[in-house]
Formats: sequence, C-alpha cells, structure tokens
Amino acid sequence: MATKEFPLAPETAPLVKTPYRCIQTAIPVPESLPLLERLRDMEPRSMGGQPPILWHHGEGACISDPYGNTWIDFSSGVLVTASGHGRPEIVEAICGMAHQGLYHAYCFPSEIRARLVEEIEQWLPAPLRRVFLLTTGSEATECCIKLARTYGLQAGGPKKNILVTFDNAFHGRTMGAQLAGGAAGLKGWLGEPDPHFVQVPFPEGFRQKDVRFEVFEASLQAQGVDPDRVCGVMSETFQGCNAALMPAEYAQQLRAWCGLHKAVLIFDEVQAAFGRSGRAFGFQHLGVVPDLAACGKGISGGMPLSAVLGTESLMNMYGPGEMTSTHSANPVCAAAALANLNVIRKKGLIENAARLDPVLRQGAEAIAHAAKGRVGAWNAVGLVAAIQFTRPGSTTPDPDTAWNVAHRAYQRGVMLFAPVGVGGCAIKLCPPLVINEEALREGLEVLCEITAELA
Ligand SMILES: Cc1ncc(COP(=O)(O)O)c(C=O)c1O
Repeated sequence: MATKEFPLAPETAPLVKTPYRCIQTAIPVPESLPLLERLRDMEPRSMGGQPPILWHHGEGACISDPYGNTWIDFSSGVLVTASGHGRPEIVEAICGMAHQGLYHAYCFPSEIRARLVEEIEQWLPAPLRRVFLLTTGSEATECCIKLARTYGLQAGGPKKNILVTFDNAFHGRTMGAQLAGGAAGLKGWLGEPDPHFVQVPFPEGFRQKDVRFEVFEASLQAQGVDPDRVCGVMSETFQGCNAALMPAEYAQQLRAWCGLHKAVLIFDEVQAAFGRSGRAFGFQHLGVVPDLAACGKGISGGMPLSAVLGTESLMNMYGPGEMTSTHSANPVCAAAALANLNVIRKKGLIENAARLDPVLRQGAEAIAHAAKGRVGAWNAVGLVAAIQFTRPGSTTPDPDTAWNVAHRAYQRGVMLFAPVGVGGCAIKLCPPLVINEEALREGLEVLCEITAELA
C-alpha cells in the first residue's frame, strides 16, 4: 500500500524550544521547497513518502535541518543510527579510512575487514560461528534464502526446496526477499504465488490470536506442504510491522521442528540485532539460536553494511569465489561498523535499551490510552515500539490517524518515519540507542498529546 505524501505547503507550527527540540520556522521550511520539489520531480514517486524535512546534521538522538530546527529522532533513520547521529568515533573511523587511502577492496583481504569480522564473532553464541559481510539487509536475507535452498538440495534433493515464512513479514525489496515477505500488498508485482515460498500466520496475538505452535503445523497441512520438503523457515525475531516478538515457547517448538525436519532456521535480525531489543540479538529473548541470522541496519550505525551469521557447515557450502559481493566489507563502511559496535559495547547501549524498555512501554501504553479506542494493539521491546491505529473495536487498519500522528509529530519536533505495517496503520518509535530518559519521555509526551487531540 502506498504511503500518502506529506504536503509541501508550509504550515505555521507553534514555536517549540526545549533542550532536545526546536521548531522556529514554518514546516516544511519555505526556503527548502525548491529542493524538495525538485526531488519529487526527478525521483520515482516512491522516494517521496517521508516527512518533507531536509536532514542536514545530527547529534545523539536529535536530527537538525539547515534552518535551525531540531527534532527528537524517533526513527533512527529506519532503525540504523544505533549509536546516535554524528557519533565522533564513527566520524573519525570514516575519515581515518578515507585518509588511509582505502575506500574499496572487493574481496581482496584488508585489515579492517579482519578486525570487524573478529569483533562480530565475539558477539556470536554457538553454534553461530562464521560471518559474511554484505551491503544491505535484503542482500543478507537473499543470501540466507540461497543457503537454505542449497542446504535443501544437498540434504534432501531437488524437492526439498520450500521456504516457510510468516504473514506480514518484511525481508527486503529484492525478488527473493519479497517472495519470502508476507505482506500481500507488496507482492502484487510478483504475479502468481510461488509454491516454493509459503507463509503461515505470525503469532502476534492481535490479528492472529492463537499463538500456539500447532497453528504453524496446521497451516502447512492446510496448504498441502509436506514438512520434509521444507528446506528452511525464516522469521523476524520481532516483526518490524508490529514490534511483536515471536513467543519464546513457539520459537523453541519451531527450533525443534526444524531439527526434526532438517530445515534451516533463519532469523531475520536486520532490525533487531546489536542491541535494539535490549539484548544483543532478538533471538536471545526466545531461548533459541538460529542456524543463520541476517543482520543490517544497526550493525553499522549508518553506513551500508550487512552480515549473514551462520554455522560452520552452512557457511562453508560454497567454495572460494562462489559467494561474494562487489562491496562486501567496504573498508569505509567496515571502519564505521567497527566503531559503532565498539561504542555499543563500551558505552553500554544495549543496557540503555533494556533500562529504557519500561519507559517506552509505559509511553506506548499511555498513547494507546489517549487514543480512546483507536489503537488496536501496541508492542514494545527494548527501544522499539509499534502502535497500530485501528477503527474502534476492530482490527481494521486506520492509516489516516497514524498518518496524522506522524504529520503533527514532525511539526512539533518529533521525527517519525511514515506509518508502516498492515494497511500502513502503525507508527514506529525507535530512537537511537543513545537516547536518554529525559528526551525519550519528552518525545513520548508529545505523541501522547497529539494522539489525545486526534481522538
Ligand atoms: C526485518 C528486515 N529485513 C530486511 C530488510 C531489508 O533491509 P534493506 O532495506 O537494508 O535491504 C529490512 C528493511 O527495512 C527489515 O526491516
């Protein structure tokens, strides 16, 4: 479903001045309009979905435009800037690598790649052991799909080729990732359903009330899927569209099921990994370890870098030169990622996400309460929350209210990205992991006020 464009007509917003927010012009800023209009004119329409604010620079949990306005950033871009905007260690690492004179290395060895892989390896619980660096989250999930299919071929022959994923899942925008995705609205361009990609309900407890693992098996049976033909099961640990963690008991039964049917268990940790959920990896909430994990976004703090983490045997199925990518471990991105992971570890950002979990949770609950029946469900874990606006007393999405909240929020100094999820009805609250309690509370209060006004 397409997001409604935010209007380009400047609106005079009330002045805002706090230590974290400053709105001192009409929004969007009249001087910014020629540039915003040129972008809308030259790029595909798909690029115009976000608030019409020129991002210029940032510091910590705040982002500023060139005109003196500052927002508390509840987006982290799109869950990327884990250690904050303008982080000096990352800036230094990027500049240092550029000054060293190395900004590309393909798969020729480099010291920075070795140091980053070594750092990531220290984060891995057994049996995850090997690290393959790529560029985007979609590339990482595609790689996982390929590894699961290859494993199926080796373990069970050409008929062991079905990948099971979940309704409303998001794994990226490339073809394999969208075949594996579970949002019908994103898959129309693919035409006929592909029988090698099968979706089952995700146990999120709102639209899918029955969260027992039996539903997984029953759904496969209802779709005529022979479990022994399944080469892999892939899921986000918390679904990006609703921030709902897979229930631990379900995950443990899924882990056992994958063992029984010789299927690769893949967690898409592109949003969750490296601290977002208050644990290093989202699957650590579930008491299971997958065979493969796809990571991206917060791994680098801002530069395009992703990773597939996997077991010895799965990661070694391909021989030298058979699984590579042009920009794998780009040295500048790798330097940034190494600095980012060091900051996360040394500055206790995972602990900060865990400590602020109850604050975000209470804030999300207060927003739901203020919505007077227009919030059907909300979930929060660590420093990510999703609030789903729905028509009162139903699960029917209410994208207009979600959009209005995002619209008013940027006029008042809180940056959200455009609503996401089923029918575009969820606002996501996902500030950088460096946010302090005061800024988090301030942003939540603004959203609460806005929601109350709209209710
Ligand atoms: C869970 C999940 N997987 C994969 C992706 C794709 O990542 P990228 O946009 O870097 O290709 C995303 C992006 O939003 C995501 O949220």
